[in-house]
Amino acid sequence: MNYPEYRPRRLRCNSTIRSMVRENSLAVTDLIYPLFVKPGSGLRDEVSSMPGVFQLSLDQLGNEIAQLKTLGIPAVILFGLPEGKDADGSEGYAENGIVQKAIRAIKAAHPDYYVITDVCLCEYTDHGHCGLLDADGYVQNDPTLDLLTRVALSHVRAGADMVAPSDMMDGRVAAIRTALDDEGFENTPIMAYSAKYASGYYGPFRDAADSVPTFGDRAQYQMDPANADEALRETALDIAEGADIVMVKPALAYMDVLRTLKNEFAYPICAYNVSGEYAMVKAAAANGWIDEKKVVLETMLGFKRAGADLIITYHAKDIARWLINKD
Ligand code: PBG
Ligand code: ZN
Repeated sequence: MNYPEYRPRRLRCNSTIRSMVRENSLAVTDLIYPLFVKPGSGLRDEVSSMPGVFQLSLDQLGNEIAQLKTLGIPAVILFGLPEGKDADGSEGYAENGIVQKAIRAIKAAHPDYYVITDVCLCEYTDHGHCGLLDADGYVQNDPTLDLLTRVALSHVRAGADMVAPSDMMDGRVAAIRTALDDEGFENTPIMAYSAKYASGYYGPFRDAADSVPTFGDRAQYQMDPANADEALRETALDIAEGADIVMVKPALAYMDVLRTLKNEFAYPICAYNVSGEYAMVKAAAANGWIDEKKVVLETMLGFKRAGADLIITYHAKDIARWLINKD
């Protein structure tokens, strides 16, 4: 395979042949849209560090889902801003917690719409950590599992179609799987945040979800950005415990991990295109420094090329519009 016998440009001569040999594509059915829900009514509050992303009160959800359906976006992932917070994040597993109410509101208006929930405690604890603290402020693993299980069960009882634990406690997938099976929810899938890194890219999300830890950081439970082999072990564990879909988060700085996990496990993989990745693109685009549509679509294709089957992204609505109005 040498020049001049091989001329790669032959297959780039026009858009028809380029499309015929294209290896990867992006479809609206790859996308999951994150929603932030909060108490109150008539609220549609824009997150300052995430232009175009809103915290919505429950009464807004019917319209929001109707819009997502029109755009062809198949699923949402819900995050909640509770009425109140306490040491063990009890609103996270309350029957009438904000996410539980949001699930019911969505299902009442759109029974067939696919609802995924983020399962964690950091939005509900007064200290902002993802689990129960001991006297020294260490997040205790095993006692947290019981609370996470309660969160997941309460979501599924309220009608959630899938749960996505994002806490990074050891053993949480097994604990949740057992609890769901015991209640007859054996067909409810678990999407595990398997390779979730202690990342600076979550900053804007913590504004949106009001979940900044009051002290310290999450490095004792989320992964070290320097590690790739560890992602294999985390993911092997989640799969062994019953995860149906595994996730890499953040996405952009961890594309090598996406590809490695795809090759190693051949499991459905989700890339979480996180808040900081979104904020950077929005800021540069607002300044006229980049072409937002080109950059976003290129980034999404990058995730697909790296092995992602699903993509959680705040750009989902814009992408859907761009895919519909092809030019
Ligand atoms: C909760 C959670 C976080 C994100 C998703 N679920 C924040 C965190 O772990 O601090 C981040 C999502 C984003 O940045 O878009 N544990
Ligand atoms: Zn958390």
